[in-house]
Amino acid sequence: MKIALLANLKEDAPNNPEDPPGRWDDLDDQITVDEILKSFMELGHEGKYFPAVLDSIEELKKFKPDLVFNSSEGHFGDSREAQIPAVLDMLRIPYTCAGVMGMMLSHNKQLAKRQFLTMGLPTAKFMVVSDPNEIPESDLRYPMFVKPASEGSSIGINEHAVVRNYVELVRQVTWALETTHSLILVEEYIEGREFTVGVLGDEALPIVEIVSPTGFYSYEQKEDLESAVYRVCPAKLTDAQTREFQHIALAAKKALHLEDVCRMDMRMDNAGNPYILEVNPIPLMYPDPKQASLVYAAFAIGYTYTDIVRKIIASAAKRWHLNQY
Ligand SMILES: Nc1ncnc2c1ncn2[C@@H]1O[C@H](COP(=O)(O)OP(=O)(O)O)[C@@H](O)[C@H]1O
Ligand SMILES: [Mg+2]
Repeated sequence: MKIALLANLKEDAPNNPEDPPGRWDDLDDQITVDEILKSFMELGHEGKYFPAVLDSIEELKKFKPDLVFNSSEGHFGDSREAQIPAVLDMLRIPYTCAGVMGMMLSHNKQLAKRQFLTMGLPTAKFMVVSDPNEIPESDLRYPMFVKPASEGSSIGINEHAVVRNYVELVRQVTWALETTHSLILVEEYIEGREFTVGVLGDEALPIVEIVSPTGFYSYEQKEDLESAVYRVCPAKLTDAQTREFQHIALAAKKALHLEDVCRMDMRMDNAGNPYILEVNPIPLMYPDPKQASLVYAAFAIGYTYTDIVRKIIASAAKRWHLNQY
């Protein structure tokens, strides 16, 4: 097949002094693009990389891809992950990963949580705050956790994200609003263990446990490759717990209309109850497994990097009824 790889590289990201630190952490590195293109070659596909920006569209049309391998996070606006899927829909070019609806639902953590609740999937109790002077009445119990409603990479999550009383809550909401200019989600803090579950096609991968000495995964820890946070895969869980987490991950994928590959961040409270924190519709595919949980989990069951790429393409090809894969 002819496959166009669409991605936004960190080195091409716009530079806006108002952006919070880490604004572009979810974009790709050149090494990821190179590795994906290498996999296309190994699989016998003709591949070409295009920056995921409007200026590439004419060239993309000339290339006439059978499929777009979409890794585009976008740059601007609440629709940023949904923009390339929308353009590709208009061009009638098939692509990997979620369409517009899936991208929008997972970008907006509040909508995603409402969708989970509608589908009977567990997620922490929450409220949305846009003004620290107008914190809504709620039955949420302390400790609570304060985070932006539509960011990633733990942007807007510092060491004070867990709040134990009203004064701390107001202080942290004020800080998060000033730092991210995003609506703020206040959730009950799920004290316990943290996991992330990758889904490749219809298969839930082995569960990765993320162990942090602070009890949660802050922006500073995600930035610092030498931090004391470490991952374990497969996570030490009973078979029944593993199956339950994997089942929830697959159901969450369906609930948010995600496709081909995704990754769910989850927690388990001290009583063993699972909760979905959020979903990532385009999980990072950095080739170093230490930096990309999806790759880490896939390697743990013996898949190679090229197997990951092959499975994503096969899943999309099946969905779009492309016959040669
Ligand atoms: N309700 C919560 N209870 C406990 N920890 C949380 C909660 N929500 C988020 N966290 C912590 O914050 C981190 C980042 O939150 P997450 O919702 O995954 O956002 P991001 O998109 O920034 O990754 C999580 O990995 C987890 O450690
Ligand atoms: Mg997360």
